[in-house]
Amino acid sequence: MSKKTVLSGIQPSGSPTLGNYVGALKNWALLQGEDRYCYYCVANLHALTVKQDPQDLHRRSFETAALLLACGVDPEVSTVFIQSDVKEHAELSWVLSCHTPLGELNRMTQFKDKSAKHADNINAGLYTYPVLMASDILLYQSDLVPVGADQKQHLELARNIAIRFNNTVGETFKVPEPYIPRVGARIMSLQDPTQKMSKSDPNPSGCIAIMDDPAVILKKFKRAVTDCDNSIAFDMENKPGVSNLLTIFSVFTGKTIEESVAYFEGMGYGQLKTAVAEAVIAELTPLRERFDELLKNGDYIKAVLKTGAEKARETALSTLKDVYAHVGLYLS
Ligand code: TYM
Repeated sequence: MSKKTVLSGIQPSGSPTLGNYVGALKNWALLQGEDRYCYYCVANLHALTVKQDPQDLHRRSFETAALLLACGVDPEVSTVFIQSDVKEHAELSWVLSCHTPLGELNRMTQFKDKSAKHADNINAGLYTYPVLMASDILLYQSDLVPVGADQKQHLELARNIAIRFNNTVGETFKVPEPYIPRVGARIMSLQDPTQKMSKSDPNPSGCIAIMDDPAVILKKFKRAVTDCDNSIAFDMENKPGVSNLLTIFSVFTGKTIEESVAYFEGMGYGQLKTAVAEAVIAELTPLRERFDELLKNGDYIKAVLKTGAEKARETALSTLKDVYAHVGLYLS
């Protein structure tokens, strides 16, 4: 059987959250194996769609790369790189944007949400962002894209772009499949469990950062919004806060949701919150320690990124040449 290719990305904007970890990063490490090529990138071009302080963006891109390694991505097995280091992403994005009807971009709910949030900076990049994401994926002929549920619509667009291009221009791209975890695809804010946990949450108590101190993690979980009937049951619609806590508990202990509900039988919300916090702290503490160690060795991270970019460029250039040949673009 031929090796499958896995690709995913994370923006280096804000502090990565428990949602990023559960929905994506944890699976990036788990998907590594002999039978797969894995490409994991820090999507810094995407981050430009909202205002960034240049020094901050530069530092966070580097730290996000270190975080991937701390989460268990092994650079000996996977290709880890920064998006801007492989210029083919931007080049393919231009070609694909000429093959993407506006109507398809108009349907993207994340564009609508983000333009409402950043009303003073609704730029063209924010609008064409899903085409850049499709380019990230299609350049590597990816089979599988591990993401959280919020990226599903972008994945569908990437599939549509690939299928249309293959049909109208010529067979060029593999059509990718999303890999969305069954439990934890959408971790919710601890303060408003009807909203996704997000780096840009205006209320910082709603969001656990992977780098938060254990004491801060415990405090945020203790303050998590639940409801007033004090019964621990999984019901996303009527008990979103408790269901979110059960989901997090399930992911961090390896118990199913049913086993988690059974585990808390006879207990109250206070015990649930403390147990969830303890499970999260137990997994994130060694991760944070690895991150701190890795950052002390900046030269190592730089070397990983250099090798990663070289490896990524090889594959990316081969796909881009094929695309250029198909659409009739001259290359000497
Ligand atoms: P980003 O940087 O917003 O998030 C990175 C990953 O984390 C997932 N995620 C969540 N999962 C569960 N619950 C949450 N609350 C939560 N919040 C975030 C996201 O679904 C994502 O998988 N456009 C992408 C980055 C990207 C990309 C790519 C992804 C760029 N190119 C190519 C896949 C393939 C983004 O903004 O993710």
